[in-house]
Amino acid sequence: MALTLLFLLNVGLLCSGAASPPNFVLLFADDLGFGDLGCYGHPTSLTPNLDRLAAGGLRFTDFYCTSPVCSPSRASLLTGRYQTRSGIYPGVLYPGSIGGLPLNETTIAEVLKPQGYATAAMGKWHLGFGANGMFLPTNQGFDQYLGIPYSHDMGPCWNLTCFPPDVKCFGLCDVGTVAVPLMYNKVIKEQPVNFLTLEKAYSDFATDFITTSAQKKQPFFLYYPSHHTHYPQYAGAAAAGKSLRGPYGDALLEFDNTIGNLLTTLEKTGVINNTLIFFTSDNGPELMRMSRGGIAGPLKCGKGTTYEGGMREPAIAYWPGVIRRGVTHEIASTLDILPTIANLAGAKLPEVMLDGADMTDILLNQGKSKKETMMFYPTDPSEMYSMFALRLGKYKAHFYTRGATHSGTTPDKDCPVFAVLKAHDPPLLFDLETDPSENYPISATQRPDLQELLKQIQKVKEQFEATMVFGESQISKGTDVNLEPCCNPQCSPKPSCCHC
Ligand SMILES: *[C@@H]1O[C@H](CO)[C@@H](O)[C@H](O)[C@H]1NC(C)=O
Ligand SMILES: *[C@@H]1O[C@H](CO)[C@@H](O)[C@H](O)[C@H]1NC(C)=O
Ligand SMILES: *[C@@H]1O[C@H](CO)[C@@H](O)[C@H](O)[C@H]1NC(C)=O
Repeated sequence: MALTLLFLLNVGLLCSGAASPPNFVLLFADDLGFGDLGCYGHPTSLTPNLDRLAAGGLRFTDFYCTSPVCSPSRASLLTGRYQTRSGIYPGVLYPGSIGGLPLNETTIAEVLKPQGYATAAMGKWHLGFGANGMFLPTNQGFDQYLGIPYSHDMGPCWNLTCFPPDVKCFGLCDVGTVAVPLMYNKVIKEQPVNFLTLEKAYSDFATDFITTSAQKKQPFFLYYPSHHTHYPQYAGAAAAGKSLRGPYGDALLEFDNTIGNLLTTLEKTGVINNTLIFFTSDNGPELMRMSRGGIAGPLKCGKGTTYEGGMREPAIAYWPGVIRRGVTHEIASTLDILPTIANLAGAKLPEVMLDGADMTDILLNQGKSKKETMMFYPTDPSEMYSMFALRLGKYKAHFYTRGATHSGTTPDKDCPVFAVLKAHDPPLLFDLETDPSENYPISATQRPDLQELLKQIQKVKEQFEATMVFGESQISKGTDVNLEPCCNPQCSPKPSCCHC
């Protein structure tokens, strides 16, 4: 009761004070693990601005993404729905993919447009390109877009410069496709992209967008899915060689510098106190890159797996004067961001089955989560296998476990691809409060008191599955080389002639 009152009071203040609804800045890191930030315990990462957000805002310990790989995780973030509904499975989209996030899905940007928001996206889209760029952000509610429409390793990189003065990118990246483009809206500005000036381009774009919106007194939504810290790491002069953590640390520092620039712009334009900044990551660390990948801290395995290391992410909410500093252990996820933003902006929810819950009460009042469950789908979900794991309160039940290529190279033999699919009946059960590392399965057969819990888990699973309608797989529609973005469309031979 007291909580509810406080909650109403807060929202009342928000709505009655400045006429302007809040601005939203959504920061999304790439392949950054639970243990990669200074404020989550990494000893040598240099992230002064993220640490500042964490110190002055709310830091989550139990925040999840919905998929251990990029495209599906992004689909859920922007729609508030599991990727199985929108069809962003199995795996990820490619430069020549025929499919993409269906245009009839409603993104956060589309939720905010009717409220008069200016909307912009910059960075890694990875929700499709398609014929004539039909799946680009400007067709999904964003007024403007600057960025690489997919992963920056999805094109040959062995001859590209990743660090100044001319340190070549590590590895080959994906050969056989066009060089990675930088796009403004639907126009290719550079092909290949210049990694040394890319972050500055983003920073300038964001400064311009925020300044223009603030001058017009227009509420805004900036979505910045960064390429950092995905392989191959890169950084311009301001960050290269400046961290103790090598290429990975420098890439992370470059992202952090941009966050610092964003904060400065929000302060200078006078809108910082009316802006919710939310930071999280798309999936766990790519452990196969060894010291060039991230780390999951105390969590098990990483990218590609449904263990905690693949799915649990750092998350920070910052809003000076509105969100009190603290740490929350409530269960929340990227699915909750759309309903939360909709509530705070006074916007209508899309009339579809949403999986997220409004977490305003967690943010504003350090209240309780409206949901006690989280479903863990593998990279290749199917109706036959359904979810691989389910979290209910402090317990996590694995119905299937499997390692992944992306999680190779650590000593844990459950993580690499050699750990083949294994079914667990009864499910492999962990108490994540006492054992966040999923090291010590609870033997339910020796614990009669847990029989009721197992029944409850089964019931929650079945109830959820009854609501799950798999959307047509967009990724199974395949690829067409002619769809790959090319700055010189009539040239030959492709893909190598797509250089401008
Ligand atoms: C989008 O359209 C497809 C094809 O008609 C349909 O199956 C799907 O349910 C629609 N999705 C939404 C969110 O309306
Ligand atoms: C690599 O870059 C150099 C200098 O820009 C160029 O001369 C060379 O042809 C490039 N090699 C390949 C394989 O693209
Ligand atoms: C934001 O609020 C703080 C605390 O009330 C105040 O000191 C600061 O000047 C405000 N900043 C802006 C840009 O309005």
